[in-house]
Amino acid sequence: MSCTCVVGLQWGDEAKGKIVDLLGNDHDLVVRYNGGANAGHTIVWGDRTFKLSLLPTGILKPHLRSVIGNGLVVYPPRLLEEIKNLREAGITVGTNLAVSDHCHVIFPYHMEEERVIEQEGGGAIGTTGRGIGPCYQDKVGRTGGIRMGELLHPERLRERLRTIVPRKNRIIAALANGANNPKQFNPDELCDEYLKYAEALKPHVTDTAKLLHESIKAGKKIVFEAAQGSLLDIDHGTYPYVTSSNSLPGGIWNGSGVPTRNVTKIIGVVKAYTTRVGKGPFPTELDDGPTGIGERIRKIGREYGTVTGRPRRVGWFDAVAVRYTSALAGVDEVTVMLLDVLSGLKELKICTGYTMDGKPIDGFPSDAYLLERCTPVYETLPGWEMDLTKARKKSDLPKEAMRYVERISELIGLRVMLTSVGPDREQSIIL
Ligand code: IMP
Repeated sequence: MSCTCVVGLQWGDEAKGKIVDLLGNDHDLVVRYNGGANAGHTIVWGDRTFKLSLLPTGILKPHLRSVIGNGLVVYPPRLLEEIKNLREAGITVGTNLAVSDHCHVIFPYHMEEERVIEQEGGGAIGTTGRGIGPCYQDKVGRTGGIRMGELLHPERLRERLRTIVPRKNRIIAALANGANNPKQFNPDELCDEYLKYAEALKPHVTDTAKLLHESIKAGKKIVFEAAQGSLLDIDHGTYPYVTSSNSLPGGIWNGSGVPTRNVTKIIGVVKAYTTRVGKGPFPTELDDGPTGIGERIRKIGREYGTVTGRPRRVGWFDAVAVRYTSALAGVDEVTVMLLDVLSGLKELKICTGYTMDGKPIDGFPSDAYLLERCTPVYETLPGWEMDLTKARKKSDLPKEAMRYVERISELIGLRVMLTSVGPDREQSIIL
């Protein structure tokens, strides 16, 4: 039995895709268990760049089975577009892709519901606009959710949409309350459209929990690929500025059907600094203007959202937050990504503790209204000049860069097994 989980320990975009890609050679399946097309994984192979939102990173390697677990919410046109793009790039997508028949399906009314709420102002959380929250709401609400398997039963789908869509139209109009030009939807048109998607996706739709149980019995090795970061986890993240699923490894059991006791290793992924997209408290944020360090890191690290293109908010490494998430995730070892981005800075800061309302506190208060009241306590370390992108082994790193990584390791109490100095596979240094 050998299952590994790769999980981001910050607010997402920690470059988890690169680690999953590196592990791909030693595994048989790559499984996603949460989220939807709100995620963005960028994989660089030499001069080729692949951007994936819904497909597991494993899809780029034909020997791997890629599984979209039941915990995902799937927008079929987006999934088909990703499949088409990969096929055009010469990547095989066939029996190597399995999509759970229990995934919930995103419809355009989910996105419209989200748009209307986000545009209202007051309650906006800065979502990716992909209909994620409203679809998960329908899942747990039970009366409005439609699962992937149901798309394969045309009569049933039509009947359900004829009940659900008029209700959705009323909800959307009521939420808009005369503003924001709310769209209205026709159940039969939606049914016809989705039946076409169903036809195209049919070869991939299956009972993925059974497939995974059989794979484990057969001794296959699995990588579980978390989407989003642990601080966006619906239960343990900085609520309400979170996503609607469990990005922590706890989500594996529900989101794939594989009991988590099968997971033998958990690799936590962090950036050498911190980023966050969307709203919500961010204690170590570098809000220092267009000529400041924050903007410099954003430019060098190309910190713009893969899904929405929004500039990511940038800040110093926060050891308090990572201590909190690594404990929740049960992390065995850590990888520190994008270390090269910090080259050329005279000094680097790491947040080692918080004060709240002027008094030191213990731990990470994850409720957004409490975190907002926290101020970071920093430790300053010397920076380094050297461009790290050509470094390939530990001895190539300047002593200040090594010290920086070691200090992260000390502060979070975990071994750093690898640091990354660029997007390419070769730009990975085993420590
Ligand atoms: P939603 O997941 O689209 O509902 O967005 C909720 C929050 O999670 C917003 O702040 C998004 O910016 C953030 N978010 C969702 N997916 C990702 C991701 O893959 N990386 C980083 N932030 C994300």
